[in-house]
Amino acid sequence: MEASGLLFLVYIEVIILLSCFNLHGLATGNETDQQSLLQFKAKITDQLKVMESWNSSIHFCQWPGVTCSHKHHRVTKLELESLKLSGSLSPYIGNLSFLKELKLADNSFYNQIPQEIGRLRRLETIQLTNNSISGEIPSNLSACSKLTIFRMRGNLLTGEIPAFLGHLSNLKVF
Ligand SMILES: *[C@@H]1O[C@H](CO)[C@@H](O)[C@H](O)[C@H]1NC(C)=O
Ligand SMILES: *[C@@H]1O[C@H](CO)[C@@H](O)[C@H](O)[C@H]1NC(C)=O
Ligand SMILES: *[C@@H]1O[C@H](CO)[C@@H](O)[C@H](O)[C@H]1NC(C)=O
Ligand SMILES: *[C@@H]1O[C@H](CO)[C@@H](O)[C@H](O)[C@H]1NC(C)=O
Ligand SMILES: *[C@@H]1O[C@H](CO)[C@@H](O)[C@H](O)[C@H]1NC(C)=O
Repeated sequence: MEASGLLFLVYIEVIILLSCFNLHGLATGNETDQQSLLQFKAKITDQLKVMESWNSSIHFCQWPGVTCSHKHHRVTKLELESLKLSGSLSPYIGNLSFLKELKLADNSFYNQIPQEIGRLRRLETIQLTNNSISGEIPSNLSACSKLTIFRMRGNLLTGEIPAFLGHLSNLKVF
């Protein structure tokens, strides 16, 4: 009886510990995601004002172009295609650590893809066709081992196609 009571207490304690950990993870994670999205927005000129509602009046998971995971409310997709957006890609996108899809085709993004992109270990799709991205393909992209689709046609990239792309075993579309 006593032993099972103790076991029960341990069980409850584990649950409490786990939920504290979870809440903590959620709180730090969601604030980082919101901050990263606002930093991303800060570098963009948005003549159609599609990102006007990217403000704290609604949760960032409901901002146009943003998709979150249901469970943890972390950003998994950023889809802002053909919206006349102009600007550079903020290095802060490297902090959207749950991001799987980055789709920004048919806009006027310029400058280089930031090296911070390599921090996105879950990234599967990069769709940047028809922008004005310049410079080389960042070497840190080699860390995105889940990368499956990488569309960059219609940009101003220079340099060679890096050899590491051949080692990204999931890569199907380049
Ligand atoms: C982050 O998560 C905490 C805890 O669940 C919540 O209180 C807070 O409102 C969330 N903040 C944002 C910006 O989603
Ligand atoms: C914030 O977003 C709401 C829509 O969610 C919009 O009506 C409002 O104008 C925005 N506020 C600012 C200051 O842009
Ligand atoms: C996010 O990214 C920026 C720029 O890459 C960096 O300075 C910052 O420390 C990162 N972390 C958080 C939690 O915002
Ligand atoms: C490329 O993007 C521009 C907007 O920046 C758009 O007007 C044009 O139709 C796009 N071209 C193609 C081939 O998708
Ligand atoms: C690029 O990758 C290297 C090696 O993993 C790392 O040390 C560096 O911090 C990364 N740079 C950025 C900007 O994330």
